[in-house]
Amino acid sequence: MVSFTNFVTLALALASTASAFPAYGSLAGLPREELDKVLPTLEFKKPAPPPGPLAYNGTKLVYDKAHPWKAPGPNDFRGPCPGLNTLANHGYLPHNGITTPAEIVTAVMEAFNMDNNLAKFAAYVAHLVDGNLLTGLISLGHATPETGPAPPAPALAGGLNTHLVFEGDSSITRADAYWGDNYSFNQTLFDELTSYMDRYGGGRYTWDVAKEAKWQRIQNSIATNPEFSLMQPRHFTVYLEATFVINFFVDGRMTENRSLGKEEALSWFKTNRFPDDWYRPGAPTAFENITDVAKAHVIEPGRNVNGVNTYEVDPTQPDLYNFCGIYVDFVNRVVPMMYPNPTGDILEALQINLQYLYDSAAEACPGQQQFPYGKPQ
Ligand code: HEM
Repeated sequence: MVSFTNFVTLALALASTASAFPAYGSLAGLPREELDKVLPTLEFKKPAPPPGPLAYNGTKLVYDKAHPWKAPGPNDFRGPCPGLNTLANHGYLPHNGITTPAEIVTAVMEAFNMDNNLAKFAAYVAHLVDGNLLTGLISLGHATPETGPAPPAPALAGGLNTHLVFEGDSSITRADAYWGDNYSFNQTLFDELTSYMDRYGGGRYTWDVAKEAKWQRIQNSIATNPEFSLMQPRHFTVYLEATFVINFFVDGRMTENRSLGKEEALSWFKTNRFPDDWYRPGAPTAFENITDVAKAHVIEPGRNVNGVNTYEVDPTQPDLYNFCGIYVDFVNRVVPMMYPNPTGDILEALQINLQYLYDSAAEACPGQQQFPYGKPQ
């Protein structure tokens, strides 16, 4: 399992040979004395601001000649996000899967027409907890042992695989981290999904399938995963990813009753490949229909507090209709958990990345910028 604790253990092993600490490795959670060993080996690169919205934001062919599909090799990093894995396989992101939040923003806008603010919000949430704040690099997950010899253990950890800070439970086609592998395509889960497509969507992924399949995954996790958690930002992203399947994976030329077939779904989730002749959505898109999906079967943020079937709502957590609350909770609770007492370059890097994150939320949360480390000087 690539839990946050395991990641710290592996990072500590690396830190003892500080020169080997990877430039994409997250510094989150490293104790002060380890940071002191690692920091001198890394060069601080002040992150440039991410790009603004697209100039042309209509639909267009995305699987074009300039972006052929190429499978990842043994040293390429892939992880739990089929959207980003696909972009790396087609060269919209670096093929090795080691990238920057600004590159992610550019790529998800260009290839998926993701709304600029959502693209920035997702990329900087991920980078703050899963990326290397000094070098500005983030990995999509782990080097891909399925396609080659297993890499040394530390290379398996970290990046977007890291459990509980962004990656979470009740995913569509990935198992809960409790079961050991939270990033690989899982055929059993995909088969369950297609049975829901048959039952509720006439063989396709529709909004009804999004509602019912996601609810089934949550119920299953409550009943089988003693460590199940829907603490934010997971309560938000668990529904967000269910909407992504229609909002982003469906060809942009399908404008009415958008839905996804089984073969295309397999291409996205398993092969991480654009369906042939694929066009991006026809307008910038964010989290359309997320409240409909979540309201179909209501569960508030919380977790199994004492083994399976002990789900308790946490009344201090914002729910998913409160986007600003999710921003505030992430910045004031999650980030300081990872970086309790930052100083020097790390503090500066945190302040810059926190600013980029707020920029993405400012329209929705005017006047609510949070400064967990005080206002920058
Ligand atoms: C903008 C930056 C993005 C970041 C940082 C990101 C990150 C992630 C992460 C960490 C997960 C794992 C969550 C889990 O535990 O299930 C995930 C899942 C997912 N992402 Fe992304 N993602 C991004 C953009 C996208 C885009 C553009 C798409 C669609 C085109 C997408 C589609 C999905 C889907 C469908 C899942 C669920 C996979 C499954 O449950 O099987 N993501 N993403």
